[in-house]
Amino acid sequence: MPRTLATRLKAVLPSATLAMNTRALELKAKGVDVYAFGVGEPDFEPPAHVLEAAKKAIDAGASKYTAVSGMPALKKAICEATLRMRGVSVAPEEVCVSVGAKHALFNVALALYEPGDEVLIPAPYWVSYPEQVRIVGADPVVVETSEENGWRMTPDALSRALTPRTKAVILCTPSNPTGSAYREDELRALLDVLRPHDCWLVCDEIYGEIVYDDFKHVSPAKIAPDLRDRMVLIDGVSKSFAMTGWRVGWSLAPKHVTKAIETVQGQSTTNATAVAQHAAVAALNGPLDALQSMRTAFQRRRDVMVAGLNSIPGVRCRKPEGAFYAFADCRGLYGISWNGKPLASDEDLAFWLLDQAHVAVVPGGAFGAPGYLRFSYAVSEERINGAVEAIRSAVARGRG
Ligand SMILES: Cc1ncc(COP(=O)(O)O)c(C=O)c1O
Repeated sequence: MPRTLATRLKAVLPSATLAMNTRALELKAKGVDVYAFGVGEPDFEPPAHVLEAAKKAIDAGASKYTAVSGMPALKKAICEATLRMRGVSVAPEEVCVSVGAKHALFNVALALYEPGDEVLIPAPYWVSYPEQVRIVGADPVVVETSEENGWRMTPDALSRALTPRTKAVILCTPSNPTGSAYREDELRALLDVLRPHDCWLVCDEIYGEIVYDDFKHVSPAKIAPDLRDRMVLIDGVSKSFAMTGWRVGWSLAPKHVTKAIETVQGQSTTNATAVAQHAAVAALNGPLDALQSMRTAFQRRRDVMVAGLNSIPGVRCRKPEGAFYAFADCRGLYGISWNGKPLASDEDLAFWLLDQAHVAVVPGGAFGAPGYLRFSYAVSEERINGAVEAIRSAVARGRG
């Protein structure tokens, strides 16, 4: 059958947010003012010195290929920043710079997972984790967590999920979509369970700098140096420096794993864009006041968002430790009648909210948590307040 699509795609879901996004765009095109809580990117601009560095790099001729795994100056900046921010010492040969953290994770999937392997993924999970595992023919195994446990996988749940086929465990802290993050003692307990089990730990720390109150993000590499030879850390500038479009992320892994990742990347994208790498050097080496003010703004927005959602009858929302997502239990809104039918799923709720309150969100089912909605509060407090009032009115109308 020469003209069929690759069977590996049969099990892969297209991005679940697309249908919602299409509907939101249709509404916008009609002139409707849509409250956009769907996209997972900061609404801030990158720091000015980052943009300046990129302009200078263009003028200085940063138009050629770089080393596949990244420019030496960027790898040095990554090593220094990892030591400064995470307390973890890494060598440049352990770093591979990729076209965003998503690409870094995909490289890892290609380099480590194969058919027959199980990869443990705590739910709610970031949408790409299970799909990347499926694309390379391995089996994602979802480990349930509960809101009561702060959406954190318990050592017991991890222990029950591990099998001789477990090739890797993917952790994301702070998490997209819940914003919850592991405290050091919780992380230590998970690492104790993993220690006797021969498998990889992939830890996505892309939101590590976006934490609130006095929460301190702890890298597993800092507290379990003895497990470093099987850890892959994922990070990047997309979220902390509001640089989603620049596409620079990286993996930090043992040298032989980084070599394998480089081989994969060398046959796919080669290097991350040279100019973007120069911008990332400036971001990592420069002052962090923009990050600090973004964090302060996000924390205020989180408080307004969470309090607003909890003030709506039928909605419950846990206060997250980090990232910029509020993950709300909206099952209390089931039963509201819309188009002659009662709302009965998170997808129904999301389409109803878009239609009746002009609020765009992502249904929790996309993250393995039906009944919940993810609100990305990368919007101004004024817009958050506006959206909360729009939802409140829609609920009141719906309940008649
Ligand atoms: C948990 C998580 N990891 C990785 C990424 C991808 O980051 P990047 O934009 O650098 O590819 C995202 C982006 O939404 C994310 O939420």
